Amino acid sequence: MAEIIDGKALAAKFKSELLVRANSFENSYGRKVGLAVIRVGANPASAVYVRNKIKACNECNIRSFSFELDEDTSSEQLIELIHKLNADVQVDGILVQLPLPKHIDERTVLAEIVPQKDADGFHAINAGKLFLGEKDGTVACTPRGIIELIKSTGVPIRGKHAVVVGRSNIVGKPVAALLLANDATVTVCHSRTVNLKEITLTADILVVAIGKSKFITADMVKQGAVVIDVGMNRDENGLCGDVDFDGVKNVAGYITPVPGGVGPMTVAMLLCNTVDGAVHE
Ligand code: GUN
Repeated sequence: MAEIIDGKALAAKFKSELLVRANSFENSYGRKVGLAVIRVGANPASAVYVRNKIKACNECNIRSFSFELDEDTSSEQLIELIHKLNADVQVDGILVQLPLPKHIDERTVLAEIVPQKDADGFHAINAGKLFLGEKDGTVACTPRGIIELIKSTGVPIRGKHAVVVGRSNIVGKPVAALLLANDATVTVCHSRTVNLKEITLTADILVVAIGKSKFITADMVKQGAVVIDVGMNRDENGLCGDVDFDGVKNVAGYITPVPGGVGPMTVAMLLCNTVDGAVHE
């Protein structure tokens, strides 16, 4: 039976360290670390995520600046707000919650955030630094949290076969780069991969971010593997991951639950990125 990786407890540990750092920043600079959070439109899942992020800021003595813009906000209006926040000395990090409404091009908008304030690590400069192995960029929150979750098991990443299922810009690609930077041998699979099961069965570390409910079943997992489930899907029974938890927990060595696994660590790493950004100014 797999050991359950408690993302909530690990996130609490990071947040208690962050509170100390944020307090010390306030003592040194006479202002709080600041994070601007922008949400556009009425996506209900985004509303929950943003609420969690703002609550976590409060827990860590980080000042949050919340912007809730109408669905019909234009790209120009959103970019104007970003430019204002880029210039605001109270703001150390800027986050634009994705997805944006269809009429707004995400890449164009994200490119307007100054890389130093890109708390999500989505800017091309930060993504590029990650791929080049340059350590001074901001690493995307979910991938950074995934590495911490794997490290918390005590299983070394070096030399292991890590299989990533999913190739998104916000999880699959950056987590593959981070696993590589940690000396894993990395295979990236996706919706067009042939013989997926043959590949996942060879994974010592399996990271799943494909957005399909209970997609990875017990017969696809190697005995003793570390399984990280990034999925956040809603089905008839409520929230579930991309991994069939009840089946896979009998095969894996370690597994993250949904909820309570990757999600809390994403939020904790966002706050880490924000405090890191403030301190490095
Ligand atoms: N949408 C889904 N995940 C994320 C994330 O980590 N950051 C932002 N800004 N939007 C998201």
